[in-house]
Amino acid sequence: MTQTQEKNAQASGSANTLVSHSVWDRGTRLFHWINVVCVLSLAILGLAILNEKAFGVSAAGKVLLKTLHAYVGYVFAVNLGWRIAWAFIGNRHARWSAILPFRSGFGAELRAYLATWSTGHTRPYLGHNPLGRLMVLLLLVLLFSQAATGLILAGTDLYKPPFGGAIAEWVTEGDPDRLRQLQPGSQEHVVGSAYDEMRAFRKPVVTTHLYVFYLLMAASVLHIIGVIVGEFRERSGLVSAMISGRKVIGEAPADGDLAASSAENRS
Ligand code: HEM
Repeated sequence: MTQTQEKNAQASGSANTLVSHSVWDRGTRLFHWINVVCVLSLAILGLAILNEKAFGVSAAGKVLLKTLHAYVGYVFAVNLGWRIAWAFIGNRHARWSAILPFRSGFGAELRAYLATWSTGHTRPYLGHNPLGRLMVLLLLVLLFSQAATGLILAGTDLYKPPFGGAIAEWVTEGDPDRLRQLQPGSQEHVVGSAYDEMRAFRKPVVTTHLYVFYLLMAASVLHIIGVIVGEFRERSGLVSAMISGRKVIGEAPADGDLAASSAENRS
């Protein structure tokens, strides 16, 4: 909202003056949209890997799909690592205390938020509301699980970093000739018993990766529904805020001092 629009809102005598607050900093927005693109691409490539037989994918095509998936996975994992760092150095809405449900008094805050739910209007938050913080926790746990299991899987089948070197040593029992000739996705040049051990180790990892994928897809749908419902109730421009970084609110936000925010706004 421009200053003129703000003045007009005041002049029109509306009960609440709309104020535009700077909320999501550039680091948070960058993480969010890179993460969206990566998760979508990984889900599509993952579904292709999962249904390779139905799609008639050749053995080489399967290795290519997995390799592409792993490369996007590296971008996804680095972006997630960057978000962890940002939670220590970003603005106050980007920090752990603001995004996770562990701040002291969270239980009371959640109960107060839910108590106003039936009225059809909940007090707007600058950052995440209490339900939003629970959702962030769930999403982060699922994203981290996917990154951890994915990085292990990239080593077990494709012999790619960070664990591929050690796993290649394992399945070839360190034989230099076998190591040199070892190919991703192939059982040639492996030592049978060591390879079977590696596959047994890998099994629960791939199962976890698959089930976390399903949970993540369900949580992503829930997240989108939450944003839509939140937007209808708070009317603070939740979606555009993740693009512009700003929320437009007509009353004192529950998680901030309006005057301080307005001052931050004018700076
Ligand atoms: C949101 C993130 C991710 C999603 C939604 C996702 C999804 C999937 C899905 C659905 C599969 C097929 C599972 C199966 O074959 O049973 C898969 C396989 C795989 N993923 Fe991911 N993944 C993600 C992140 C990653 C990351 C970060 C990496 C590594 C850098 C990775 C590496 C792999 C590999 C190597 C496979 C092949 C497993 C196999 O050999 O069957 N994934 N992923």
